[in-house]
Amino acid sequence: MLAWQQRIKNGTIVTGKETYQADIYVQDDKIAAITTEKLPGEIDEDIDASGKHVFPGFMDTHIHSRDPGPTHKEDFTHSTRAAAAGGLTTVFEMPNTNPPVNDAAHFDSQHEHLGTQASVDFGLWGICLGHLNEEHIPDLHDKGVIAFKFFWGYAVHAETYQLMYNYKPGMENVIPPFHDGEVYKMMENVAKTGQVFAVHAENNDLIQTLTSRVEERGGSTYEDLLEGRPALAEVLTVQTGIQMARATGVRFHVLHVSAGESVRLIRKAQQEGLPVTVETCPHFLFLSAEDFDRVGPKMKVYPPVKHKSDQEEIWRGIADGTISHVCSDHAPHTQDEKDGSLWSIPAGMCGIETLAPLMLNAVSEGRLSLQRAAQLLSENPARLFGIAPQKGTMQPGSDADFTIVDMDKEGTIQQDNLHSKSKMTAYDGFPIKGWPVQTIVRGRTVMKDGEMVSEGHGTLIQPTSTGQTVHGIS
Ligand code: DOR
Repeated sequence: MLAWQQRIKNGTIVTGKETYQADIYVQDDKIAAITTEKLPGEIDEDIDASGKHVFPGFMDTHIHSRDPGPTHKEDFTHSTRAAAAGGLTTVFEMPNTNPPVNDAAHFDSQHEHLGTQASVDFGLWGICLGHLNEEHIPDLHDKGVIAFKFFWGYAVHAETYQLMYNYKPGMENVIPPFHDGEVYKMMENVAKTGQVFAVHAENNDLIQTLTSRVEERGGSTYEDLLEGRPALAEVLTVQTGIQMARATGVRFHVLHVSAGESVRLIRKAQQEGLPVTVETCPHFLFLSAEDFDRVGPKMKVYPPVKHKSDQEEIWRGIADGTISHVCSDHAPHTQDEKDGSLWSIPAGMCGIETLAPLMLNAVSEGRLSLQRAAQLLSENPARLFGIAPQKGTMQPGSDADFTIVDMDKEGTIQQDNLHSKSKMTAYDGFPIKGWPVQTIVRGRTVMKDGEMVSEGHGTLIQPTSTGQTVHGIS
């Protein structure tokens, strides 16, 4: 007699292309069958998803758990619990840890360190530090980094590898922002791997000049911050990156896009057939500068949240497929660290647990279809980073990762209930309709009705291909 590990019955399955009723049978941690027939055999865990939607497991491709490093803000145990609580089955951890993921040995140590803590599956980003680690790029590729990250426009502390949120030229013990020639070389090196070269995009030179000017006249409002760190800082970097991608052939990915003009430039590059992709985050979709008076310093992020017109263009990019996916840029800091002048406090906010609820709420509000949500949170990132069809895919043979969603469930985001260490969120009290109610990682329920039911089951995911350039609506 056959025995199934799991069945999810009576649910409505959502993929990027369609929505249909069927039952899912799981065997050996993989999807074994998707069918309306009743298959014979015992079932270990039988899940009734009547009235619910079953998505291919949602993922968050952009999180900073700061582990090892400043773990008083967050660690991987907490961030992956928060991920599961928020309906995510896979996360990609950013490489600016201490030590950073800058060579094969540190890839291995990070794999081991995070593997013992992970409640969901995880990929590891590799860092590009110019001449400091260029010889390690091929090894990092061979090890299975998910992609390469370059903090364009950031200075990095030379010993702790922490980002300098308030860098000034002349500071000691700092790896200063890299010049364009070195960026070009990084792109050439990553192009040889076929993997994605993803950038934080801000022009530090311009930021230095404009910020000094605003600081000299004592500017301290949110509009002053935006004057010192304007859309132009991102746009210049995106434009340079697109032209360098054209020259080097690298797959160029713009992280957390914040400016409408950047979206327009990327759309044009995509129309020309260049391998350019872009993601955004909920804070650029649901917040704008006008919200600062209400939300306060919690919403300070880099690149900063900009104006309504930027937000509208980013939504157009979601609608027409210019934007491949949505992720959180989860970057917690403590309450104390976030108290202070707008200039001096660090940038970043919690986001991992609120990513899926905010996007599902957008579905409820009619701003997004269920299919588009499946593309943005599962299918597209899996294809872009070369982990499909293992992840983000609803078909036999794929990992049995599911996010079960109750689109009728209403509630509010409660900061105190978040599972992260530092729980600072801009969305405290934000009403949500459409919540993940069950998170299943490779056939094991990790979260049910908001409660963690198993922990520590996550494992490393390595790309099986270099991935595809994902844009447009399929
Ligand atoms: O606001 C941000 N915080 N932007 C980043 O690029 C990094 C992040 C962090 O790690 O704090």
